[in-house]
Amino acid sequence: MAAGLLAAGMLALLAASWTRTLAADRPLTPAELEKRNALANPYPNDLGPLKIDDVVAKYPDNIRDGYKILLVKCAQCHTSARPLNSQFVEPEGKTPPAKEAAVAKLRKDHPEYFTASARPAIWNIDAHIWSRYVHRMMSKPGCNISSVDGKKIWEFLVYDGVHRKIGANAAAWKAHREKLLSEFKAKYPKRYQELVSQGEL
Ligand code: HEC
Repeated sequence: MAAGLLAAGMLALLAASWTRTLAADRPLTPAELEKRNALANPYPNDLGPLKIDDVVAKYPDNIRDGYKILLVKCAQCHTSARPLNSQFVEPEGKTPPAKEAAVAKLRKDHPEYFTASARPAIWNIDAHIWSRYVHRMMSKPGCNISSVDGKKIWEFLVYDGVHRKIGANAAAWKAHREKLLSEFKAKYPKRYQELVSQGEL
């Protein structure tokens, strides 16, 4: 009886490991590879909250739409924490030159956002940074984001950066990023150094 149970147990174990082997042997699709890559290389952003509902409740309706889309579409490979706790800030402006002028004005009025200790780990302020990153994510295999949704996400990220990370909220944002950075450095020291050496932090 005991031997029979043992044999059954062994068979079950064997079956389980066989299934695992089969799953592991199947080549990963480009989309799965992208997701694996996203998860294998963490960012300090990932340690922050997955949602900022209370803040977004005060945003205009059209901007809130972009947030809701982001929570679904930008959480397919990494979590929504990665874009929501990002140091990227793209200023508002109707045209590219208007955005570039806005960055120049910030540099003049707020040099503290651009010092060696603040940039790029606390704030990475650039005229087109969110536009670039949303397009970069959209071009990845497995990222099914329509151009309409991509534009709404981008509009949210611009509005949110300007209202939550700089100006009246700059000090709170700085404290938030510093906390994420020190937690990240303790948890993933090698990856932290890698990001520093790549000029990302
Ligand atoms: C198909 C998988 C996938 C989807 C969907 C995706 N990402 Fe990513 N994301 C990645 C990978 C992989 C990385 C690692 C860096 C890289 O490859 O650019 C990354 C990194 C990032 C980073 C960190 C970049 C940095 O250097 O600090 C941000 C911010 C980001 N994604 C935002 C977004 C946003 C916003 C969306 C939705 C529009 C999104 N992601 C959707 C795969 C994805």
